[in-house]
Amino acid sequence: MQVLTEIRAARALLDGVRAGGGTVGLVPTMGYLHEGHRSLMDRSVGERDVTFVTIFVNPLQFGADEDLATYPRDLDSDTAMCEAAGVDVVLHPGVAEMYPQSTPTLTSVSVAEISAPMEGASRPTHFAGVATVVAKLFNICGPCRAYFGEKDWQQLAVIRRMAADLSFPVEVAGCPTVREADGLAMSSRNAYLSAEERAAAPVLHWALVAGAAAVAAGERDPAKVRQLVADLIRAEPLAEFDYAEVVDAETLQEVDPLAGKLRLLAAVRFGRARLIDNEGATAAAPT
Ligand code: PAJ
Repeated sequence: MQVLTEIRAARALLDGVRAGGGTVGLVPTMGYLHEGHRSLMDRSVGERDVTFVTIFVNPLQFGADEDLATYPRDLDSDTAMCEAAGVDVVLHPGVAEMYPQSTPTLTSVSVAEISAPMEGASRPTHFAGVATVVAKLFNICGPCRAYFGEKDWQQLAVIRRMAADLSFPVEVAGCPTVREADGLAMSSRNAYLSAEERAAAPVLHWALVAGAAAVAAGERDPAKVRQLVADLIRAEPLAEFDYAEVVDAETLQEVDPLAGKLRLLAAVRFGRARLIDNEGATAAAPT
């Protein structure tokens, strides 16, 4: 496994792979890797000739009052996980390597509408930061299949739409959320949870599961589904509720009455940790 810090070296290596007829899988991450990240790497290693993992805590996607400075990092453990997964190339560039002209960048990628609600409403500059760095990573990597987690459903929708709108030579692959035994979605930010908060955190998942079950049982009023999820989260004293929504799974816009493929999404703060999760549901047309 090659561990690189220079974009030019990664490009040359991957260009060589493609010139020889090899396929490339890209797994973008911010490091502090866990089994959720590992599932993306495993899928790429199984499907592609060469797997390219990037580890970069992207300052552009953090708001001024967010956790950029304290975001957990452990490069040794990350590279060990990559090696064990059979990853071929890791790129962990410094901020000056990724943004040589300084941040904020003059050029920014923004994906309208899909970026606006939920995470976009709570974190107004977040998705432009994500889309801009992912566009850069797509250009650094070149033609590939790129793997993203459904855990960040809105991010996945934003990236899919960006890749389609801007004709990136990249096939975006979504991968299912990997969870702890009690239902909590794995996340690098779970490291912020105290023991009490960790014990309470699965309420986010189970509230969304209950909301999805209500849709499956025939509930078609989005306000009632939102309320159900919100009430279940608010019943947990350590949880500071942010939002709960039920929207079209692809466009992320509201649907009333509920119909077709839907996604329930919610965010909650436990102390220092802001956690997000989502669950699928289908509202079948009445027969
Ligand atoms: P990060 O939070 O490190 O996540 C990297 C990738 O791992 C994302 O595609 C995310 O959805 C996926 N992932 C995280 N937890 C997961 C879980 N429990 N199950 C399955 N997949 C999971 O998301 C980012 O970094 C950044 O925004 C990035 C795309 C790298 C751009 O900076």
